Amino acid sequence: MNILILGSGGREHALAWAVMQNPKCDRLIVAPGNAGIAQIAECAALNAEDGGAVVSFAEENAIDFVIIGPEAPLANGVADRLREAGILVFGPSEAAAKLEASKSFTKEICDAAQAPTAGYGHFTDADAAKAHVRVNGAPIVVKADGLAAGKGVIVAMDEATALEAIDDMFGGAFGGAGAEVVIEEFMEGEEASLFVLCDGEDILSIGTAQDHKRVGEGDTGLNTGGMGAYSPAPVLSAEVEARAMEDIIKPTMKVMAERGMPYQGVLYAGLMIKDGAPRLVEYNVRFGDPECQVLMMRLGAQALDLMQAAAEGRLAEAHVNWAEDHAITVVMAAAGYPGAYEKGSEIKGLSALPEDSKNMVFHAGTRAEGEKILAAGGRVLNVTARGDSLQEARERAYAMVDQIDWPEGFVRRDIGWRAL
Ligand code: AMP
Ligand code: GLY
Repeated sequence: MNILILGSGGREHALAWAVMQNPKCDRLIVAPGNAGIAQIAECAALNAEDGGAVVSFAEENAIDFVIIGPEAPLANGVADRLREAGILVFGPSEAAAKLEASKSFTKEICDAAQAPTAGYGHFTDADAAKAHVRVNGAPIVVKADGLAAGKGVIVAMDEATALEAIDDMFGGAFGGAGAEVVIEEFMEGEEASLFVLCDGEDILSIGTAQDHKRVGEGDTGLNTGGMGAYSPAPVLSAEVEARAMEDIIKPTMKVMAERGMPYQGVLYAGLMIKDGAPRLVEYNVRFGDPECQVLMMRLGAQALDLMQAAAEGRLAEAHVNWAEDHAITVVMAAAGYPGAYEKGSEIKGLSALPEDSKNMVFHAGTRAEGEKILAAGGRVLNVTARGDSLQEARERAYAMVDQIDWPEGFVRRDIGWRAL
């Protein structure tokens, strides 16, 4: 099977790593890829958000299966263009990708599905939004309706912050994404994520994870794309997962199908769990980054079979071969991230690290220059390990971190603390 993965981050490196291990994979191309991916697969320059270009590329290279990593191509209809061309693809349609691309769309689907989530108001002008905040008081959550690269959410602990966020959003701070806002009730509890595959009809759980969004130890400081993650997430026990499936995911998928937007791909449900009851925080229509890295570490080669089964509508007959294992990923970021940071510093010591089913360094933002690996982004490496316990996996991961010679980088030393 010739496979094309779209994307360029640690998520796509982990997907490529898992797919490569499956004997079904004859040829793997990742577009655009990165320096780490280039060590295990072919990389190709291609605009992953241009459906026409992706279809032509897939046809020219006799691609049998396309796996779409990030949300932007999905929101842009790349999966639709591939399906129209008769090419097998893993990832939802543009219409179904609105579960991530529009917060108000998701809220409305949750209403129809009677799925537990935060109460909300949806506003197209600042005055009405502010009046809602004044009536409901803080804490309260202000969200830009559209895709804002994870930055369009303000959890306001006081009213002034919420009012300011509304002004910023309607003032264009998030471009088109902020032309409409959703204001939500603040939910308390512990957050964790549930990942399921869907084929338009059937649903298969492929694991749980918890990430660390704040830059600082003890979950302090600025929000980031994620400084580390681990799987499984103990707070998402089998009982809580079953409730999330019955009350949230299944009804959502049913409403999507009834409305002519059957969902096919991976659905990432961000949940807030309090007293054993899950409520939906958000959906994403792709794997999390860095959550994908720990899921792939645990699933290995079967990830390809599962994604193919989802794409071909065969999930009813698919199942996951679970091991009693734990995985963790520690993000190495450039000093200064998530604020301003330097690019171009050299990372040494990578080639001496083990690469096997228990240890893997996935590249997120790197670039090769001859033999050298240089930092080329904010989140740069995902140092990932698996073990029989979270403690064992964590020791493995930090042992690798300690062997990496990159003075311009930093890590959080406490990834996994909530579970330990
Ligand atoms: P989102 O982009 O919707 O995942 O929001 C980013 C983060 O904001 C989430 O991971 C939560 O930590 C927080 N958040 C979003 N909505 C709520 C809410 N209604 N109540 C409490 N925290 C929230
Ligand atoms: N790690 C959070 C995300 O991928 O959205």
